[in-house]
Amino acid sequence: MQTIDMTVTVNGQKQTLAVKPNDTLLEVVRDYLDLTGSKEGCGEGVCGSCTVLLDGHPVRACLTLALEADGSAVTTVEGLADGDTLSRLQQSFIDHGAVQCGFCTPGMLMSARALLDDKPSPDRETVRRALSGNICRCTGYAKIVDAVEHAARPEAGCPDCRSKDTGGDHD
Ligand code: FES
Ligand code: FES
Repeated sequence: MQTIDMTVTVNGQKQTLAVKPNDTLLEVVRDYLDLTGSKEGCGEGVCGSCTVLLDGHPVRACLTLALEADGSAVTTVEGLADGDTLSRLQQSFIDHGAVQCGFCTPGMLMSARALLDDKPSPDRETVRRALSGNICRCTGYAKIVDAVEHAARPEAGCPDCRSKDTGGDHD
């Protein structure tokens, strides 16, 4: 199939790629750029495991054509850490036991990142709404919401650490 050149900045690095017209953004990040953090769960826009940021907005990469990202900036889960240092949001997921099998985690993190970029101090209901398009089959969601709440307000913590009066710290 004929290819078309495109330029996209992914996690701060400018990339020039020859893509097929029907390639998805998920195929570009996973197959062309070997950024395999973003997961393909349903491939139909339902589960959210493929969520990346396109010019700062969360999108389903499985439903986004690669060419829609031409000239834009994309952030994948690999772009959250600073080298070997996890972001506060990522560390909070670990501290709260918000990761079990981990398949949903990259998408959850990207939806949460978009929320905190837009609303740095969301209430719990706002966190729930922002993550409502991301499906997790393992955790029951509460720990994920705790993790996002704690990352947003480390000094206040989440309901779990407030109930234990740990001053916002987890073990
Ligand atoms: S893989 Fe994209 S929404 Fe499920
Ligand atoms: S941790 Fe397994 S799907 Fe969410």
